[in-house]
Amino acid sequence: MERDTVAILDFGSQYTQLIARRLRELQVYSEILPPKTTAAALRARGAKGVVLSGGPTSVYAKGAPRCDPRIFDLGVPVLGICYGMQLMSHLLGGDVQRAGGSEYGHAVFQPRNGSRLLQGLPPRFNVWMSHGDSIVRAPDGFTVTGSSDTNPVAAVEAADRRLFGILFHPEVKHTEQGNIVLANFLDACGCRRDWNAASFVEEAVARVRETVGPEGRVMCALSGGVDSAVAALLVHEAIGDRLTCVFVDNGLLRKDEGTQVRKRFADRLKLKVLFVDASRRFLSKLRGVSDPERKRKIIGREFIAVFEEAARKVVGKERARFLAQGTLYPDVIESTSVRGPSVVIKSHHNVGGLPKRMGFKLVEPLRELFKDEVRAVGLRLGLDEEFVYRQPFPGPGLAVRVLGPVTRPTLYLLREADDILGKEIKAAGLYRSLWQSFAVLLPVRSVGVMGDDRTYQNVVAIRAVESADGMTADWARLPHDLLARVSSRIVNEVRGVNRVVYDISSKPPSTIEWE
Ligand code: XMP
Repeated sequence: MERDTVAILDFGSQYTQLIARRLRELQVYSEILPPKTTAAALRARGAKGVVLSGGPTSVYAKGAPRCDPRIFDLGVPVLGICYGMQLMSHLLGGDVQRAGGSEYGHAVFQPRNGSRLLQGLPPRFNVWMSHGDSIVRAPDGFTVTGSSDTNPVAAVEAADRRLFGILFHPEVKHTEQGNIVLANFLDACGCRRDWNAASFVEEAVARVRETVGPEGRVMCALSGGVDSAVAALLVHEAIGDRLTCVFVDNGLLRKDEGTQVRKRFADRLKLKVLFVDASRRFLSKLRGVSDPERKRKIIGREFIAVFEEAARKVVGKERARFLAQGTLYPDVIESTSVRGPSVVIKSHHNVGGLPKRMGFKLVEPLRELFKDEVRAVGLRLGLDEEFVYRQPFPGPGLAVRVLGPVTRPTLYLLREADDILGKEIKAAGLYRSLWQSFAVLLPVRSVGVMGDDRTYQNVVAIRAVESADGMTADWARLPHDLLARVSSRIVNEVRGVNRVVYDISSKPPSTIEWE
């Protein structure tokens, strides 16, 4: 049975992805599409409803994104949010005026006139607004169904055609009744609420079987992170031992990480995993290299070389070759969004070049999921909470946390310090609320005194940040007692470190990692 889907046309609002996430939390699958998507295309996709997102422009601005006006005649409900409402009103003959009633931030909203979209709501509630234009006259056939302090026309509706517009953002948490509004819209669409981890797994498994066929073989590079692990587990669920995972120990992993991967994936979850110890290779290529970008490039190249060798061994002469990857939805929509691609600040390590060179076909079972959904799917497939909620870890591993040249002794120091920090953060119950917390080994020495002796040893920096998506981040206000404990444990237990400092920079202008 086809699942019920709501399409969201993205006019460039910073909240568009949130709309999709909220609808999915209400258990209806929703997907984000470019603003130019035609009514015919939406019909072909079987959309049971359409949301027009907000956007940063005015409908009168040059090059302002438009939608296909035939969408309003599709016969499915349409919800215009902010810019989406203004666009709908403009295209259907209402009167939209530039500026005048602009509102940013909190506002008080009052629903009225027996609106279908706004039923079950209190007479006044707080909403989040962010718009410049305002609507002075609703299009013919529409009634005004709500107002705010500064905008008499803050919601409109053509109930018979099931066309709705609201000026506030129901997807933003500051809007008190946002979920009820979205749920009312889903009810108007007649959507079944059956999108959840279990139904996703069922469908994804069937899709993988179909793509791979009865004989096909799949490889997957396990990075040690959540996305590749969940992708591998899904494929394993679909085709069992026709999946071979490869885990490359590049010598840049955290303390005990390789052992944990073995225990978790090979022993407990019964995946077929080829472990490749390539640490010598990586470390010899990195010898004497200090430049961060060069480190990243070397590691990326080396990874591809090691993986190719492993793939040749595993796949041998067999033909049907697939590569499973943990690509997520935010990466997929990045390319269709009205916002341009973001600037590359650091080159990221991934296996992007591989499929083409090796003639692999891609299997990307998580392409339609957000991170929190991947976690739910991971739990469903038997991953433990500790793993599923682990903090991100960069592909180039500890190489970008040992500043300056990377050697076995410096890696050892960093691993020990990082392990102490991790244990203390977990013991304090802070691990999950932090985006990341880790240690960095600085390429400087400082003088200290231990007992009666003068020391001249290494400095470790502690980095702990709070963030929603890694794009911006604020340094965490860790309790001083915790910092004191971490510092004294590191200095006492890690021989060769006599000083610990705390990084109090935010991103921007700093980045999360030091390299
Ligand atoms: P920055 O340091 O740019 O990092 O603020 C943002 C987030 O990305 C992670 N990061 C990486 N992740 N490969 C990855 O998979 C990489 O090469 C890489 N570099 C940085 C970083 O840990 C943070 O969460």
